[in-house]
Amino acid sequence: MTTKVPKGHPAYAGSAPYDPPQLRFYDPLVLGFANRVLWRCPTSRLVGLYSRHVSGRHLELGPGSGYFLDNCAFPVPDPDITLVDLNSHPLKHTAERIARYRVRTLQANILEPLPLPPGGFQSVGFNYVMHCLPGTIATKAAVFRNILPLLAPGAVVFGSTILGSAVHHTWFSRNMNRLYNKAGAFSNLTDDVPALTAVLDEHFAAHRIEICGAVALFVARQQ
Ligand SMILES: C[S@@+](CC[C@H](N)C(=O)[O-])C[C@H]1O[C@@H](n2cnc3c(N)ncnc32)[C@H](O)[C@@H]1O
Repeated sequence: MTTKVPKGHPAYAGSAPYDPPQLRFYDPLVLGFANRVLWRCPTSRLVGLYSRHVSGRHLELGPGSGYFLDNCAFPVPDPDITLVDLNSHPLKHTAERIARYRVRTLQANILEPLPLPPGGFQSVGFNYVMHCLPGTIATKAAVFRNILPLLAPGAVVFGSTILGSAVHHTWFSRNMNRLYNKAGAFSNLTDDVPALTAVLDEHFAAHRIEICGAVALFVARQQ
């Protein structure tokens, strides 16, 4: 990948897989097959989460293939969308896919402070990225600290993440999750609902978590 961090940096492995061939197969393999069979949270449910919460000034962390931004319903015809990713390929792929909107891109590590204008975003999508970040949920919460100054009053932060602990896994999903952790693409073996609740409590005035299969969906607001 074209990246801001060197190979061997803790954040490298979680974003490295998303090269052009992977991105071409991401929708059928991850959003079609894995969401239904492995993680047991249908993609349509996540599209619903996006359609309920995206706004006209949206920040997307780790856009991947851009499927959700392409398929959700925005409340305005010409949303202003900023994409942030450590890997340049998802940025290019998604920006082209949703070129009908006003799109800006920033190549950056979301675990570091982000050089974006403060107070400007009404919504932030953070979907299927937390389980790719290194560390524990407590250290991954750096992302929430980094986006708080960027939120407009009343903004919503939403998304989902695959949990590795204290959630129902099938034999197949548990072993695939272990495999992804071994490869470094996921770091979620200790991620669980109490840890997610604790970091959302710490950073937001109100939040809601729902479990769907092995996936936690969350919606949080600062005020
Ligand atoms: C599993 S994909 C999720 C794609 C999309 N959000 C979805 O739900 O289909 C993870 C995305 O997060 C990005 N990513 C992983 N670690 C990152 C980091 N530390 N900073 C910024 N982006 C990161 C990857 O490059 C990839 O685009």
